[in-house]
Amino acid sequence: MSDESKAPGKPEETNSITRRDFFNEIAGGALTLAGIGAAVVTVKYASPNVLFEPPTTFRAGSPDDYPVNSVTYLQDQQVYIVRTEKGMWALSAVCTHLGCITQWKPESDQIACPCHGSKFQRTGTVQAGPAPRPLPHFSLVLGEDGALVVDKLEVVKETEILKV
Ligand code: FES
Repeated sequence: MSDESKAPGKPEETNSITRRDFFNEIAGGALTLAGIGAAVVTVKYASPNVLFEPPTTFRAGSPDDYPVNSVTYLQDQQVYIVRTEKGMWALSAVCTHLGCITQWKPESDQIACPCHGSKFQRTGTVQAGPAPRPLPHFSLVLGEDGALVVDKLEVVKETEILKV
């Protein structure tokens, strides 16, 4: 092909960008990124900084679910439901030494901590080990529909037993 298709005096079209256009593109991109970053920070700042924790009150089923003279571990709540002839109570399964999860040992009629060897009676009383305090009792009541309701935020005396 020849150069006859070019009009005389008309600047040649090219796909190259000028140095000025290049820096304008860079500056525009940087400003866009900064704007997005500022928007994200603003939205995060404006949203409430709330720690969502699981509810401390939970329903533990019917008293009939727990046979007399039983200790039942509710794994999802880390709570024991104990039932004797005297009544029922809810006991924390978290060791009072350093917070390990204890285990019910029916063969020895004890709640034992696997970490440092503390042992508790089913009442929560310390029998052995480094645990400095008994396992706390949580509030256990019967709801209006007859279901057991445990409140892990309300620690009660060992003598508060639910008569069923
Ligand atoms: S955490 Fe249970 S005995 Fe240490």
